[in-house]
Amino acid sequence: MSKSVLKVNSLRKEFGGLVAVKDVSFEVGEGEFVGLIGPNGCGKSTTFNCISGLLQQTSGKIEMFGEDISNLRPDQIQNKGMTRTFQHTNLWREMTVIENLMVPPRNQFGSSPFEFIKSLFTTKNESEKERLLMAYEALDQLEVPHMAHNLASELSGGQSKLVDIGRSMMGSPKLLLLDEPVAGVAGPLAMKIFNNLRRIVDETGISILIIEHNMDFILRQGVDRIVVMNEGEVLMQGTPDEVRANKDVIEAYLGTAATPPESE
Ligand SMILES: Nc1ncnc2c1ncn2[C@@H]1O[C@H](COP(=O)(O)OP(=O)(O)O)[C@@H](O)[C@H]1O
Ligand SMILES: [Mg+2]
Repeated sequence: MSKSVLKVNSLRKEFGGLVAVKDVSFEVGEGEFVGLIGPNGCGKSTTFNCISGLLQQTSGKIEMFGEDISNLRPDQIQNKGMTRTFQHTNLWREMTVIENLMVPPRNQFGSSPFEFIKSLFTTKNESEKERLLMAYEALDQLEVPHMAHNLASELSGGQSKLVDIGRSMMGSPKLLLLDEPVAGVAGPLAMKIFNNLRRIVDETGISILIIEHNMDFILRQGVDRIVVMNEGEVLMQGTPDEVRANKDVIEAYLGTAATPPESE
């Protein structure tokens, strides 16, 4: 693997008596496109929440570029170059697509009403032009520049997911964490989203860790590696071919995600 961007070491997260994440270790290298997959409820989103600082982990260590970022605040982690999306997309419905890219998401970093109002002023300083260019570039990279002036409320579920990904690309992150960005998105658009992400990784050298619950789907989407979780643990990790051939994975998936339920 290339230079390590993210290193998760024996991550554990308990909610009262429930151990949602038991002992999770994996790495994401520079310029790598990695899938995090597993049946619903196996701890994928909780893992993201710990990595991005939204939840305090119970134990374990998380490193970014070799630096310990365990339990830093979300905004501190974002400043180090990590951004994320959430399973439930939450755009500003009454704003246009481009405006959504210009302000921070309401459920993400520093998004208290005060932070939001502050952002409206800070985006109007001399860097506004720069942010606007960045926003158009993100829409270009996702092949949806024509949506720039649509109201978010007019978008389909799949288009909203795309805008959400665009928003996570603002600020030129080095690592993107995407939580089920194609859940509920029709097949052709879902494949297009993965193709675009692959191209963005190849062209810009950023790293992407993407949660997907549909095993059959992700095996065919050109990711470099897949980390398979089950019941709060890493069952295995490897290339799509290695995952496809692994009998533990086949067993874990029989009767569970073999026919995955719609997640939302
Ligand atoms: N904030 C929370 N409080 C209590 N339990 C939670 C919380 N978040 C997740 N869980 C529980 O942790 C387990 C893992 O959930 P989650 O990480 O969302 O799974 P996945 O994303 O793989 O579907 C589930 O049993 C879920 O109900
Ligand atoms: Mg989840």
